[in-house]
Amino acid sequence: MADKIETPAFVMDENTLQSDLALLRNVADQASCKLLYSPKACSLSTVLRSVARKVDGFACSSPFELRLVDQLCGGSHSLHLVSPLIKRETLAAFGERLNYLTVNSLSQWERLRGAVSSETKVGLRVNPQRSFVRDPRYDPCQQNSKLGLSISRLADRFETAPASLRGITGLHFHNNCDSTDFTSFLETARHIRDVIPKVLRQIEWINLGGGYLFNLVADFAEFYAAVAIFRETFGLEVFIEPGAAAVQRCGTIEATVHDIFDGDDVQIAILDTTVNHMSEVFEFQFEPDVLGHVDNGPYSYILAGCTCLAGDTFGQYSFDRALTIGAKITFLNMGAYTMSKAHRFNGVSLPTIYTRRLDGSVDEIRTDSFDDFARHAGVTDIAAA
Ligand SMILES: Cc1ncc(COP(=O)(O)O)c(C=O)c1O
Repeated sequence: MADKIETPAFVMDENTLQSDLALLRNVADQASCKLLYSPKACSLSTVLRSVARKVDGFACSSPFELRLVDQLCGGSHSLHLVSPLIKRETLAAFGERLNYLTVNSLSQWERLRGAVSSETKVGLRVNPQRSFVRDPRYDPCQQNSKLGLSISRLADRFETAPASLRGITGLHFHNNCDSTDFTSFLETARHIRDVIPKVLRQIEWINLGGGYLFNLVADFAEFYAAVAIFRETFGLEVFIEPGAAAVQRCGTIEATVHDIFDGDDVQIAILDTTVNHMSEVFEFQFEPDVLGHVDNGPYSYILAGCTCLAGDTFGQYSFDRALTIGAKITFLNMGAYTMSKAHRFNGVSLPTIYTRRLDGSVDEIRTDSFDDFARHAGVTDIAAA
């Protein structure tokens, strides 16, 4: 298979995707909640089509995501939109096809109230004011968060201005990122139960967001207990909308070593990929998993990306054998927030996209071209470019 793949490449493994989706489906069924997928994690067509076979709907963040999901996955899935920006024209374009809309603030709701189809169920994003993410850039509950109405204000509005909540039939929260246990999930659910019990008695549904890597969790008891608070105590329909849990493991980035030279105290290996293709490596400064890397192996290299950015590096990795020019490097667990955040800084092309089918065969899905780069740069007459 390796020979068939032109690097840099993104390879989606259908087998892994299906097993991680099956796990999510099973846990959602055990909890009797509805399973949505957040396409922001990965919106490649092959991923969406596979995901569609296992989920009840899609939790989109923009009109483009909505349109893509609608076109690729047909009309049988429920479509949800949650975003700090919702334009009237989006609501007009989707009309009753938008099944659930989550508004981000009560002022947004006030302005959109008249523009929402009577078939669309409207929820309010609530900030539960329970922070579990250390990096504030990824913490929806940071001080002065732009994401949702704080739960304390919601409690207050419910008592002092209930008319402002008219038409709201659901709540939505999302307050974690890549978590591998559900302690914080249960803590958040209990907090919501304790602070706004009267609101929960008035509504019909609640969306508990994403942020948990279900496939790395050993015990789901706290997840089931949290869902039961809303389902059993308050009789609500419950949704979850994971992204990374569905797709993180199924994607690899494949690269080739193009140069090796001496650094101050370790060799540098230049690859034909870059942090452009894995932007969270740069944002979080974490070292991605590399196939064949061994702790304290005899041959060490800084694996470096191919752009002019000094910080375009992946970290120091050791191997049992020396790398040579032309060696292949596989970055593991790259399915989430890679292709959806990839860009062409320095004019480096996006990875070629492949799917490894269940029978092991590999299909090329898309190759990035100079024309794509030129179009992005505003060139309209590609032939003359
Ligand atoms: C509102 C909302 N829902 C769901 C998700 C998906 O989160 P994850 O991919 O961590 O499961 C996100 C991610 O940012 C989000 O902002």
